[in-house]
Amino acid sequence: MNSANCKLTGFCALLLLCVLEMLVAGQCLSAQAKPGVASAARPLPAIVERDGRYALMVDGKPFLMLGVQANNSSAWPAYLHKVWPAAETLHANTVELPIYWEQVEATQGKFDFSSVDLILRQAREHKMRLVLLWFGTWKNGSSHYTPEWIKLDQAKYPFVHNDKGESVDSPSPFSAPFLEADKTAFRALMRHLKAADPERTVLMVQVENEAGVWGGVRDYGAEAQKAFAQPVPKALVDGLGKQAGSWQQVFGEFADETFQAWYIATYIEQVAAAGKAEYALPLYVNAALRDPFHPGKAPQYESGAPTDNNIELWKIAAPSISLVAPDIYLSDYAKYMKVIELYKRKNNPLLIPETGNSAAFAPFVYAAIGQGAIGWAPFGLDLTRYSNQTSGPESMESSALKPVAAQFELLAPIAPMLAKGNLEGTIRGTSENPENHRQGVDFERWHAVISYGMPSFGNGMEPKGNSPANGGVLILQLGPDEFLVAGHHARVDFTPTFAPGKKRLWLKVEQGRYDATGKWKSERILNGDQTDYGLNLKADENVLLKVRMTTF
Ligand code: DGJ
Repeated sequence: MNSANCKLTGFCALLLLCVLEMLVAGQCLSAQAKPGVASAARPLPAIVERDGRYALMVDGKPFLMLGVQANNSSAWPAYLHKVWPAAETLHANTVELPIYWEQVEATQGKFDFSSVDLILRQAREHKMRLVLLWFGTWKNGSSHYTPEWIKLDQAKYPFVHNDKGESVDSPSPFSAPFLEADKTAFRALMRHLKAADPERTVLMVQVENEAGVWGGVRDYGAEAQKAFAQPVPKALVDGLGKQAGSWQQVFGEFADETFQAWYIATYIEQVAAAGKAEYALPLYVNAALRDPFHPGKAPQYESGAPTDNNIELWKIAAPSISLVAPDIYLSDYAKYMKVIELYKRKNNPLLIPETGNSAAFAPFVYAAIGQGAIGWAPFGLDLTRYSNQTSGPESMESSALKPVAAQFELLAPIAPMLAKGNLEGTIRGTSENPENHRQGVDFERWHAVISYGMPSFGNGMEPKGNSPANGGVLILQLGPDEFLVAGHHARVDFTPTFAPGKKRLWLKVEQGRYDATGKWKSERILNGDQTDYGLNLKADENVLLKVRMTTF
């Protein structure tokens, strides 16, 4: 076609959009098939890195995932209506929902993605983004979400066998047909998403769920034994900087666990690569954790999983996986912080795709974001009246949503600023440490002191801490001497580090909001009793403060 006689209307316009879209994400066919969205040539969600800091880019801008994961069996069409209202009450911007292999490929080779389409449609109606969880070969170390045609052909799709020859409730990663079947299904899912989601409602896909083995350390099936008799693959020894040798020679007492991890990770890499070749969304795996201080030895924790001791192995084995993410169900402050430290790496963006949903976990959102998390999501907060907390299912509709809703309501309006700040390194954040009622964070010119359990009025007293320890603060640097402060149950003050001997003088402490366009709307200037003793952040009102200071 000659461009000189091509008016930019109708077919030519569509063609141009298609070419643009193909350049952006290879979406031409899907846009043509959906005339209403042909102009939505949105960039693919992507994880970007700057000096070891990360952001999830959505529509080309940093996006902070304030998420919630639904219960395992809540993603069926008849139950989705119990998911969205909880997400809305929580002020979440993203819902994590499983896609069940047994549902989408009930008959081998016949794919039915109508449930995926429904999830996409309803998520858009509720203005939620999605993270989809591929419940494929592995779900919590077992293979319970595989279709019946897999479960009924165990010769072809085998279980792990232990050293006594007994089967373990975990899929063997040594079956070529199993791998092919999962690759085929995951490829089909990603191909479908590419066509069905030009809006980029889906931000990321989790490949499998908490892969690994419970109740055994490694597979002793015939194929596994052949592999174990071989030297450790060169890619692994080279990647870890070790000397070549057998599994026992290279890894000693951890040989069995490392062997299992390598073969699970390389299996998942092949599934991930097959899907990514169709549609290049960020992909991740999630980990059932071992105790970060007293890990013990597999099988005390899930063997072969992306536990903290095997993160580098997973990086080497699975380059199609953008990140390895911890599911943090440890409510102990020191353990939570240690897990964050272990998974936040220069080569691994921090994402907490599952965390506990009881009140004790809610304040950890501050530390997670303060440590650069691209997302944080409590597990199982929907209205299906099923709870993995001992407080019972009834509480899910009322009290269980409140603690997280309180934090997300405060943070949702500034989520894009927080995501950008994390990429730029201008955020500090802390959650209350029950053992230490005063915390400090440093900026270039200022040291911020956060105290917990202080009254609103008066100073000179020692902080007592909150009971329970439910405080937390995020501070975003807006300029050399200007900050945005958000938090609950805490007092914040600053001292100048650039001017020794001088003290902080408030120039202006504005309380206000960001409107839907991201514009700051000042509501009042705080002064007098409201600032003389520091910035007191209670939880009965969601207070955002813009603070400018000088010294005297
Ligand atoms: C972790 C798993 O990844 C979830 O799917 C769910 O089973 C929770 N555990 C339950 O606590």
